[in-house]
Amino acid sequence: MSGTPLVDAWRRARAEPRHPLQIPGHKNQFANDETALGADLLAELVRDDIPQQGGVDDNAFSHRYLEQAEALWAAAVGADHCRFLVGGSSQGNIAALSAVARPGLPVAVDRTSHRSTHAALVITGARPVWVHPRIHPEFHIPVGMTPGRIAAIEEPVSAVFVTSPSYVGTLSDVAALSAAAHDRGVPLVVDQAWGAHLDFIAGRGALASGADVSVTSVHKALMGYSQTAVVSMRDGRVARAHLDRCVDLVATTSPSGTLFASIDATRAVMEREGAAALDTTIGLVQRMRRRLAGIAGLVVADESNMGCAIDPFKVTLFLPGTGVSGFDLGEALWRLGHGPEAADRDTLVLTVTLMDDAAFVDEATRIITTLIDQRRGDARAATPTSVWRIDPDVVVTPREAFFATRRRLRLVDAVGEVSAEQFCPYPPGVPLLAPGERVTQETVEAIVAAGRIGRVAYSSDPTLETIEVIESLSP
Ligand SMILES: Cc1ncc(COP(=O)(O)O)c(C=O)c1O
Repeated sequence: MSGTPLVDAWRRARAEPRHPLQIPGHKNQFANDETALGADLLAELVRDDIPQQGGVDDNAFSHRYLEQAEALWAAAVGADHCRFLVGGSSQGNIAALSAVARPGLPVAVDRTSHRSTHAALVITGARPVWVHPRIHPEFHIPVGMTPGRIAAIEEPVSAVFVTSPSYVGTLSDVAALSAAAHDRGVPLVVDQAWGAHLDFIAGRGALASGADVSVTSVHKALMGYSQTAVVSMRDGRVARAHLDRCVDLVATTSPSGTLFASIDATRAVMEREGAAALDTTIGLVQRMRRRLAGIAGLVVADESNMGCAIDPFKVTLFLPGTGVSGFDLGEALWRLGHGPEAADRDTLVLTVTLMDDAAFVDEATRIITTLIDQRRGDARAATPTSVWRIDPDVVVTPREAFFATRRRLRLVDAVGEVSAEQFCPYPPGVPLLAPGERVTQETVEAIVAAGRIGRVAYSSDPTLETIEVIESLSP
């Protein structure tokens, strides 16, 4: 089997005159009728929306195009099985953790995990045994989970779940983590949301390094439509049928065939031209890092100063030595149409992909150099970012807390109580405080500080003045 089954079927469906007596409600009329109801607003938005069911494939999926495309992706990345997702790596993380966790039982989870992993803990009812990556002593970012931390877990956990690449582009040694998890007789799941490209570099992907399940966003590092992701697995420690069940538990029953086809197309492009394109992009990123490292006071993350491997698509800058505020620099880049992946006071994270050519990368390097020079100030020490350092007291499981009876308190009066909700600064989307965790003076201060400088999501009171804490656990 080869080719692009979903792309081909999508093109056929798109070319066919159709006016179905079933969903989609837009009846594909925006494809060629400029006078259709609401065309002025809707046409360019939904013109290319072909559903998978009754569109790219028939209602019974009898051509099995999706399965064929998934098998091709699995073969391309060295997986035994994979599933395409339209709910992002968020859906993938929920499915993957659900596949290896059990209600009430301990599961080892990286506390710097994305909020979707925390959502999986609510859904499964598993009890998190938090593990923490090393934190860089000077720049205070996570610089990789170590196998020793997995080996040191005292409880008999059902699986180990880690994130690599991290949001700031640092990588864990997944081969060593796989060995550590397997020594305990349990599977390793890797949230590789930021690292879809790694699966196309020999030996760099999580599965190639021994992980049992990995989750990748096709829309982040590669070229898929927004929301596209893939969960992939190797047979042995995780049951395929159970992973499938968990994917279906949190999947729409009306997926977009357009989104799915963009995953198929991305895989085909990577197989056809990925090796050369990856080499080019990796070279451009290295050049950008080298040039930026020449700016006085600026530190550019690399293997030698971070002590861990770095995502070859990321350029992570530490600004304290330049005296420049990352917020200010980030804003300036936004205004120029070059919004960075993340910007906080001390750190700027840039994502470069295969779609960025040499002229753009060099121009971006020049712009950043100029912006820093224009804003230069006195060097300062880096301020630790709270989300990377949270070591919570887990009082009850996230699920128990989520479904508990709640009462509202002023945040400043809640120290000592158990939170029923999540406070999650964006970026990086890692909760400062999660349901089931004890509220401490430190977390209250961290929430207030995070709210002052950016968006803190998912808490019930957007002013952050109050918090819902557990009144009593549901029977
Ligand atoms: C580490 C990590 N995992 C998972 C996700 C969720 O990915 P998606 O946006 O594809 O749902 C994110 C989102 O930023 C993330 O940073």
